[in-house]
Order: sequence, then structure tokens, then C-alpha cells
Amino acid sequence: MKAIVELANALSEKGYAVAEEVIDAKTCNLFLHYLKEKHAEDELKKAGIGAGGDFQKNKTIRGDFIHWLTADEENLQFKAWFSWIDSFSAYLNQQLFVGVRDREFHLAFYPPKTFYKKHLDQFKGRSNRLLSCILYLNDGWQEGDGGELKIYFENNEHLLIAPRLGTFVCFRSELFEHEVLPTNSARYSLTGWLLNYPKGIGFLGY
Ligand code: OGA
Ligand code: NI
Repeated sequence: MKAIVELANALSEKGYAVAEEVIDAKTCNLFLHYLKEKHAEDELKKAGIGAGGDFQKNKTIRGDFIHWLTADEENLQFKAWFSWIDSFSAYLNQQLFVGVRDREFHLAFYPPKTFYKKHLDQFKGRSNRLLSCILYLNDGWQEGDGGELKIYFENNEHLLIAPRLGTFVCFRSELFEHEVLPTNSARYSLTGWLLNYPKGIGFLGY
């Protein structure tokens, strides 16, 4: 709960927040194991960049492979994560009137030498993403492994976040441009969005 209050305070003051160990290392390692299993089973898909982007163009913008979590996975392997995210969302709604009504999360794997160029987390025809939320899953990440998240601010400032296992970052999706710097080693995360209207209602073409 302490983490949630501190995250909410930082979000309301600055629009972004970072915390360590919102989920314990053992559970994060289970998530990592599940993601590596998906990878080994060849069940990750090349991530897209919204409607119309062809594969080659995609590769020059982002190089990650993803797996969207299903309702079953939300209730089974990732239950600890979603119960935390739901408490976090409930607190944001009660204290800050954020208006979170749904969420969507995917597992992401960046092979060595990949990146995600500077972007905003809003796709054409979609504006339901309120908060971008990422839980990093890189056990033993060290300086030089690369793959830091770079969040851009006005006046040329930025923040670099190391994607260490257990580090959680969230930021207002419509406000902050950000990028994933080239990674030198395999980079794993659980990435998603808190939404202001339910996903899958279908009237904006996705
Ligand atoms: C994204 C993204 C950042 C990260 O998936 O849109 O910006 O650190 N991810 O993985
Ligand atoms: Ni992004």
C-alpha cells in the first residue's frame, strides 16, 4: 500500500512515477520464466506500430516481440500482478479521479540489438490509454546491458530508467514521449496500459 500511495502522489505531481519491488522478486521471476517459455514455444509475435505499418517499417521503429495476456492468464499465472494493478487503479480512481475502467497488458521481449524509437503511446483512432505501466523482468541487469527506458520532458531534459527485475514505471500516456534505447542483451518486460474506456468495444477500429 505504501508503494501505491507514493506512486499516486508522484503521478499527481509530475505525471510519472517509478518504484522498486511493487511485486516481489520471486513472483517477477515466475513471470520471466513464463515469458521465456512463450518465447521458446515460438508464441511471441512481432509487435506492430498501429494500422498500416508494414513489417520492414516496423523493424526500423521497434524490434520487440509480444504476447497479449488473455483473461485466463490474467487469472492464473499473472494473478498477483493483476490484483496489484487493480488495487493501484482503484486507488487512482478514488483519490485522483483518474477514471480507469479497464487495462491491457502484454509480455515483451527485445532481442539483443533491438530498440523502440521515440514515440507516444497513442495510436491513430485510439485515445483510451491513460497510463502506461511497465514492470521490468531482467534479472541481473547491469550497466552496459542497455535497453534503458528514456522518458523525455520539455526543456531537453530526460530520465533514464534501468529495466531491472522488479522496477515499475508508469506515466501519463498522452504526455510523455519515450523510447527504449538499443539493448545489448535480451530484454524482458510486462507492459501495458490503464484505459479510460473498455478495450474491445470495437467502435474505433481495433
Ligand atoms: C511501449 C514502450 C517501454 C519499455 O511498449 O510502448 O514504450 O520500457 N515500452 O519497455
Ligand atoms: Ni511506449
